[in-house]
Order: sequence, then structure tokens, then C-alpha cells
Amino acid sequence: MTTGIIKINPDNFKGEELEEACHILKDGGLVAFPTETVYGLGGDALNPLAASKIYSAKGRPSDNPLIVHIACIESLYDIAEVTEDGLKLAKAFWPGPLTLVFKKKETVPPQTTGGLDTVAVRMPCHAVARELIKRSGVYIAAPSANLSGRPSPTQAKHVIEDLDGRIDIIIDGGSPDIGIESTIVDVSGSKAVILRPGYITKDMLKDVLCDVSTDPAIEGILPQKDIVAKAPGMKYRHYAPKGQLLIVEGSPDRVARKINSLVSEKDTEGYKTAVIATDETKDKYKCNIIKSIGTRKSENSIAASLYNILREMDYMEVQYIYSESFGAGILGGAVMNRMLKAAAGHIIQV
Ligand code: TXA
Ligand code: MG
Repeated sequence: MTTGIIKINPDNFKGEELEEACHILKDGGLVAFPTETVYGLGGDALNPLAASKIYSAKGRPSDNPLIVHIACIESLYDIAEVTEDGLKLAKAFWPGPLTLVFKKKETVPPQTTGGLDTVAVRMPCHAVARELIKRSGVYIAAPSANLSGRPSPTQAKHVIEDLDGRIDIIIDGGSPDIGIESTIVDVSGSKAVILRPGYITKDMLKDVLCDVSTDPAIEGILPQKDIVAKAPGMKYRHYAPKGQLLIVEGSPDRVARKINSLVSEKDTEGYKTAVIATDETKDKYKCNIIKSIGTRKSENSIAASLYNILREMDYMEVQYIYSESFGAGILGGAVMNRMLKAAAGHIIQV
């Protein structure tokens, strides 16, 4: 299959540019599109064949459910058993980077929900994503548009790297503002539970609902080895660069000393190494490749560069990557949650 590419400026487009993509969606095809978090790989959420195609294009395990993207709150009632807590959160944060899990209605095929009786729903705020949903008239099931296990795509070129020849069309709408995936909150039960941390933090959710807890499997910054996460996707190794990533946590000086000694060891053995640091600390390191992920003064700058940096490590064929730690203080632990998965839980404290 040849994958088409359409370039669109999200700040200045008419909507007609999306006609072809809309036809593809209506016909059960696959369209990668930009959202404010990461690029999504979209198909008709109510068409079981389209949903199945998404799994095969990504190489995704079939028990890992998809998020359904809608463009207005009314659509929620077509697909979900709406709860009071869910509605409150939807009204407070939609359109935006929040996904809500409800009991599903019959309309949603099991292929879309990985066989679960719940459905994850999100109303994105990205202009292109919204126009695509409205114009096509399709509720769009969309996981992140990467091959399963790879870092999520924050540029159209990342989507091309992973999915060229496997999907019908890619809409290139530039870089998303946020750069990490939406916060997922389960509102299907008696109490709201965070299943995946993201840009919408627990504190922000607690301003709307007093009672919000976190799935114990993702609580804290250290990996919870013996608890199975409630969001099926959270149990897989994920977001991973090809090289081995190790996170070193501790005071900035100790971290720099430890990383410098690890780098020198691996350099001597002939491996290609790199360091992921911040604007504040990058001068502390001795390594041929030192990448700043952003400034600790702006949590968003760090989130927005995370996946770009992990992919750059692959372009440079780095074999050992050493990174500073980004604790619970950065976007409620959302960045660290991704880093730990990318590092397959490899973290040392100094
Ligand atoms: O920001 C985002 O959420 C992006 C953009 C494209 O919207 N999408 C995204 O999708 O990150 P994906 O498939 O990469 O991650 C979806 C996560 C997975 O961990 C999946 O297991 C979980 O949502 N999920 C989906 N449906 C669920 C359900 N019914 N119950 C629990 N977890 C669910
Ligand atoms: Mg994903």
C-alpha cells in the first residue's frame, strides 16, 4: 500500500483539505492525524474491520483497547454509559488531553475495546483532529500512531518512519503542543481512578472531584513489579528507544558523577553512549552526545521533547543512554512514568 501525505497548517486551513481522509475513514481505512498530545492512528471506532486493521498496522496486542475520539459531548451518549463524575470531568477538561473510561454501549464493537465491557473516550482540542471527526461523521478509534513498543510520534516524520506503507494516509499538522499522551481516568465505577498520568494532573482533577485515586500499579516513581495495571497498555514495555536506557536518580552532583563514570566505562568498551540532561545540568557531563530535554523551570518543555529525544537516540544509533530522573514533581509524574517504561524499569539511586 502507498501511504499518502497531506500537509495542513492547523492555524490556517479550510477543512476541504481533509475530504480525502474523511472518505478513507468512512470506507474503513486508516488515517494518521495530529492531536494536541501525540499523533493518533485513526479508524472508524464502530467498524470492527477498521479497528482490527489498526491492531495489525501497529503490531499491537489485540487485548490492548483503543481510545475513541469524539467532537462533542452529546456523542458520548451514543457509545458510553455516562456517569456523574465522568460528566463533571468531561465538562471541565474537554476538549483536551483527558481520556475517560466508561461502561460501553452495544454500539461499540469488542474489537475497539480489546474485548472489555468499558470504552475509553476523549475529545481532543487540536483543530485538525476536531475537524476530521466532525467532517467524516465518524467516531475515530485511535491509539498513538507508532509501531507497538516504539516511542509515541510527535512529528509526522515519526509516523512515516513507523507506518509508511501500512496505512492509507498521514495528515502532517506539525508538532503537538503537549507531546505526551492524555491522562486516563476510569469513571466507570464508584470512584474515579487515574490509570495513566498525563498533562491533566491529579491536583487538577481534584479541583473538580474531591475523590480521585491512582491505580496502585502506577503510583510513585519506582516501578511496581507485582501489581498488574488496570489500563492494559500500561503493562507492556513501551516508548522504548533501541538502545538501553538507564535512569539515575539522586542529587544533581551525584547523578552527574555516576553518569560520567558509566559513560566512561561504556566508551572504553567501544559502545556509543549519550546523556539526557537538562538546561540547568548539561555542563556537568562528559560524553560525546549530551542532549538537553528542556528546562526544569518548564515541565511542559520537558514533556514536549521527551519522544523527540528518544527517537534522536535511534537516529544516532546510541547503544547506552543515561538519563537524569524526572520525579513526581514534573507533570504529576507523567514524564517519569514514560521514562521508566522506556527504560524497562532500569533505574538506580545514588
Ligand atoms: O493522547 C492520547 O491518549 C493519544 C492520542 C492519539 O489521543 N492516544 C493514545 O492511545 O495514547 P494509546 O492506544 O497509545 O493508549 C491508550 C491507552 C492504553 O494504555 C490502553 O490500554 C488504555 O488507553 N485503554 C483504552 N481503553 C481502555 C479501557 N476500556 N480501560 C482501560 N484502559 C484503556
Ligand atoms: Mg501508545
